[in-house]
This record gives sequence, C-alpha cells and structure tokens, in this order.
Amino acid sequence: MLVEFVLLVSCIFAYLFWKDNYSVAKRPPGPTRLPIIGNLHQMALTGKKLPFEAFDVLSKTYGPLFSIKMGMKEAVVVTSFEDMAILLAKDETAGRVLEEFIADRSFKEELGVLFSNGEMWKSVRRFTIRTLRDFGFGRKSSLESMMSEELRHFVDKIKTDAKASGNSSVYVYTFFNLSLVNVIWSMVAGKTFSYDDERLIKFIEMNEGLFKAGNFGSDISVAFPFLRHMFPNATNANLFKAGFAEFHEYFREIIAEHKARPDYGTNPDSFVDVFLAKIDEMNETDPSEGFYTHDQLLIVMIDLFMTGTETLNGVLSFGLLFLILNPEVQAKVQKEIDAVVPHGGEVLFEHKQKMIYVQATIMEILRLGNIVPVIPPRKVMQDFTYKGYTFPKDTTIIPNLHSVFVNEKYWDDPKAFRPERFIDSNGELCNMSKFSPFGFGKRFCLGETQATPAIFLYFTTLVQQFEFSKMENQPDPTTDPSPGFTLSPTPFHMKVKARY
Ligand code: HEM
Repeated sequence: MLVEFVLLVSCIFAYLFWKDNYSVAKRPPGPTRLPIIGNLHQMALTGKKLPFEAFDVLSKTYGPLFSIKMGMKEAVVVTSFEDMAILLAKDETAGRVLEEFIADRSFKEELGVLFSNGEMWKSVRRFTIRTLRDFGFGRKSSLESMMSEELRHFVDKIKTDAKASGNSSVYVYTFFNLSLVNVIWSMVAGKTFSYDDERLIKFIEMNEGLFKAGNFGSDISVAFPFLRHMFPNATNANLFKAGFAEFHEYFREIIAEHKARPDYGTNPDSFVDVFLAKIDEMNETDPSEGFYTHDQLLIVMIDLFMTGTETLNGVLSFGLLFLILNPEVQAKVQKEIDAVVPHGGEVLFEHKQKMIYVQATIMEILRLGNIVPVIPPRKVMQDFTYKGYTFPKDTTIIPNLHSVFVNEKYWDDPKAFRPERFIDSNGELCNMSKFSPFGFGKRFCLGETQATPAIFLYFTTLVQQFEFSKMENQPDPTTDPSPGFTLSPTPFHMKVKARY
C-alpha cells in the first residue's frame, strides 16, 4: 500500500514538473520550477531579502525578460529599460492585476484608477485627470500658490519641532505626509488640516503601516492566496481589512459632508463635489453604465490619498537623507538656489530652468531612492507575441524598475549618489531618456503633473531655508530602505539649522 502511495505521489509530482517546465513552448526563459513552490526556492537562494533585489539577481542568469512562478503565481518579470518602454506602452499590457490582498480596498471589485481595467478605468481616469486639473492639479500657477502657502506653515513647523527637541533635531518618519495631505486634499476634498489633527495623524500612521505590510513582488499572500484565510494575522490579511475599513469610514464621512451641501452641483469646491454631481447626472441620463457611483468615488479618493502622499514623502525624505550623507552636494544645491533666488526669497516653479544642478540632484534622488521599485503589476488584456514569446491573456507582468535604476549597463557606479551623472560636459542635463520613474504608456502615473512641481518646490524651499546635517556622535543613518509597496528611508534623526 505504501509503495503504491509513494508511486502515485511521485507520478503526480512528475506530471506537475513536466507541465510547469516543458508543456509551455514559447514562454520567456526562466528557472526550472518545482511543484507547489515554483521558483520560490531560487528566489530565496539569491540571498536577497527584498523581491525586487532577487529579481535583479535572477535576471543576470535568465536575461532581461524571464518567466517565474512564485507558489501559485505565474508571471513574467521585465528588468530592462528597453523592454519596459516597448512592452508597457502596448495597449495589450494596459491592464492591472487586482491581487486578493488589495481587493478589500474596493469590496473585491475593480474600482478606482489604480487597479481597475477596461472602459471603466479609461473613463474614470480621464474624468479624474480633467476634474483635478480644474482645481489646480497640474496647473503650475494654482499648484504653486497652494504649495507656497502650505510650505510657509511647514517651514514654521520644522523650526518649532527643532526647538522643542532640545537639540535642534527632527525625526524623519512620515515627515512630509501631513503637509502633502493638505496639498492633495485641498483639490480632492476642498479642505486642509491642522498639523495637530489627532485623527489625521493616526490615519497617516495607519496608511504608512499598510504601505509597509506587503510588496508587489513576491508577497506570500500573492504566492499562496489561501494562506490569507488560514493565517489572517501572519499574512497581514486582518491588518489590510481593518485599514481599508478605516479608510472607508473616514472617506464616507467626507463624502456625506459634501453631499449635505445644497450647492455641491452648482458651486463645486473640489473633486468630490464634481464627482457627486456626475453621479446625479449619470443616474438621470444613463443609469445602466454604472461607472460613477458612491463606491467608485470612495475608491478613487483612496487611490489619490495613498498614491499622493507615500510616494512624495519617500522621495523627499530620501532627498534629506542623501543630503546629510553628502554635505558637498547640499552646499552646491544651496549655492545654486541662492544665486537664482537671493536672500531666502520665495522659490517659484519658473526658477527650475535656471537650476540645472538642483534638477540633476532631484533625478539622482529619484533614481537611487527607487521609490517605486516594482511598478504595480500589469495584466495582459489580449494575447500577443513579443520577441518571439507568447504573452497569453491574463499573464501578470512585473516591471522591476529597481533593475533599471541600479544597473551598471545604464549607470557608472550605480550605488553612488552623484547628481553629476545627469549633467554633460556642456553643463546641460543628460541621461534622462534612460529614466522613467513615473512608469510607461497609458498607465503612466496620473499624479506626475503634481509630483514634479511638489518635489521641486518642497526640496528647494527646505534646502534654501535650512542647513541639514547628521547627528553628532551617532552612527550614520542607513541608506537601506524601509521596504513595502513603495520605499522610504529607514526613519532617522537629523540636525536642522535655520539659514535665515
Ligand atoms: C515621486 C512621486 C511618484 C512616483 C515616483 C510615482 C510613480 C508611479 C508609477 C511608476 C506608476 C505606475 C505606472 C505604470 O503602470 O506604468 C504610478 C501610477 C499611478 N500614480 Fe504615481 N507616482 C508618484 C506620485 C503620484 C502622485 C502625487 C499621485 C496622485 C496624486 C499619483 C497617482 C498615481 C495613480 C492614480 C496611478 C495609477 C495610474 C493608472 O493605473 O492608470 N502618483 N505612479
């Protein structure tokens, strides 16, 4: 009996091994798979803790485009800039995968912008961009006045916090989030918050917790989704559920406040008002379409809140970290800002063109900070072939942006922080064409038009107003990131000295 059982199990394993490795003819190459775990063991054997680093190691053996199976999850990993630029610009790859762990955010439906697909995604994305633009998003002059007001408060807060610390220091952890929420929320919900708002502070910390609780690479609940039900605490399923429930409650209250205003349709003060009017209009004209609902609005708000704060906080916090570790770069940045805007005057977006070294420094922060190491995976919407390989419908594509940012093929000494790599011998900016931190094609970052001025204005204003340095008699803060869906620096303390 035992012999038959062992034989049966061996046959099943042999069949699964053959099926996984040899029955698919034109899949991109990849490591040999084992039944059940797929390639998880090879990922572990790379010795890298973070999935995007493991992908980078595997690409050295299997090439820039390779197949991988992580538990039950089948995917193609893309690690070269050239392949990303072509593959991700295709209409066939303009889908996004709604993994189970993120599905609680939207009641297990494809809603919002970030993880929706097809006609609904197209319509809601277009509407969101257009409406936010009407409230200043992507309009340099409106954004500038909104941000300069906010930046005045933020500079004062840094001064107050540094004074209160007793040793002129601040703690860089979710450092920019409260201020960034005010910028984005003034457009989305027509309101700003005080920096002491207890509920918002807790909410931001909860959001940070969610961002750090998973990744878009090889999260265990992506590899084996059923584990979420068996071990809801260990897989963070409960954390995500509770976090998204808080989001729903908080944002429903905001929607209800707007809806209670009799003139939200005639005198809209924000994105939420215009969306509510659109819901009314659609209900009257085309109730069957169903794209514009209260749940849709709720999820778009979550998308904008989540994407609009953590990413920018990550970039700006890495900026401060790299400057205190490279004081000579800080000095050069200050010199250039002081030459263009003397005596601590207000920096404007139009000054950007005259600040080549600042621009190069910001690009280097985006590159080495590597805020979005893995682009949220794309889903193949229709079969196609590329370089002779077949990509069947529903294939998951994992664009490993990290590999592009640290690849010696594109960058000399890629681990070094060196803004000069973006400046050529004529003093002009260069190397920008191998650089796409905001993604590709029709799924290109919706917030880039807000992110670019925000990074410039926050970065230049802070470096103009303060001298930042390492804490005395303490080890240097690490540049190892705090991992998650997006990266941010491991929290650190730094000294702050006002320059004006
Ligand atoms: C430095 C800051 C930021 C970086 C590096 C960044 C990067 C990215 C990347 C790489 C993608 C995926 C693009 C693709 O699939 O090809 C993305 C998508 C997206 N980003 Fe950003 N982002 C940033 C800031 C923002 C901000 C400020 C917002 C909103 C206020 C935002 C909203 C979004 C949304 C909604 C999507 C999904 C677009 C879609 O699927 O249609 N992002 N971002």
